[in-house]
Amino acid sequence: MNKDRKLIIAGNWKMNKTVAEAADLIDALLIDLKDVKEIDMVVCPPFTALGEVSKHILSTSIRLGAQNMSQHPSGAYTGEVSAMMLKEFSVRYVILGHSERRQYFNETDALVSVKAHAAHAAALRPIICVGETLEEREKGVTEEIIETQVRGSMDGLDAAKAADTILAYEPVWAIGTGKTASTEQAQEVHAHIRRLLASMYDESTARLVRIQYGGSVKPNNARELMSQPDIDGALVGGASLEARSFAQIIKSCLD
Ligand code: PGA
Repeated sequence: MNKDRKLIIAGNWKMNKTVAEAADLIDALLIDLKDVKEIDMVVCPPFTALGEVSKHILSTSIRLGAQNMSQHPSGAYTGEVSAMMLKEFSVRYVILGHSERRQYFNETDALVSVKAHAAHAAALRPIICVGETLEEREKGVTEEIIETQVRGSMDGLDAAKAADTILAYEPVWAIGTGKTASTEQAQEVHAHIRRLLASMYDESTARLVRIQYGGSVKPNNARELMSQPDIDGALVGGASLEARSFAQIIKSCLD
């Protein structure tokens, strides 16, 4: 696929997979994907499986991501995990502000931006998630909502850090529901985000930022989504829990 930016496809395993299951999944993925170089591939297991998965992907082209992290470097924050703790397992990416974190754990744009700064300071690349609810889409305020989230979640990031940040557009109504945004709906929001980045930074920064689509990405819709000019990858939930479907998604986007 002829793209301006290298595609990045990440699997968000959410709160799934014991250590043994994670080992099986990553081994199966490596059999299918070991020769893939044209697409950046990332898996984001739960914290408890990072160490195991990390050992399996040594010297392969699959990279490791976490699903969240604390904004604090260390201290009395029971239950939290810091950037440095993630780095111990060679984690390279961290998902921030996923809609489930926003919805169930009250994460705000302001918090996401503080976490994004902490991630960059530790040389972890944030994958910042934004997306409107069904109610917001039906009210016709999708673009405003996305603008508020992007501006708030990237607050204070300079152009170099912005270019090294991945955004994930995930309409909340499409997550885990089997309802994908149409390619046109997704492309429209992605183009809006890129115009917004150009106004927040400049054209060349906006051209560098990779914007993933997420929300019921499956083997049968991934290629069409990825062929859109402003869609530069996917954040995959359900379909990343099985090696075959995640590998098919990636392979369907190769030439
Ligand atoms: P889904 O999840 O692919 O299961 O819709 C996507 C996500 O939440 O990142």
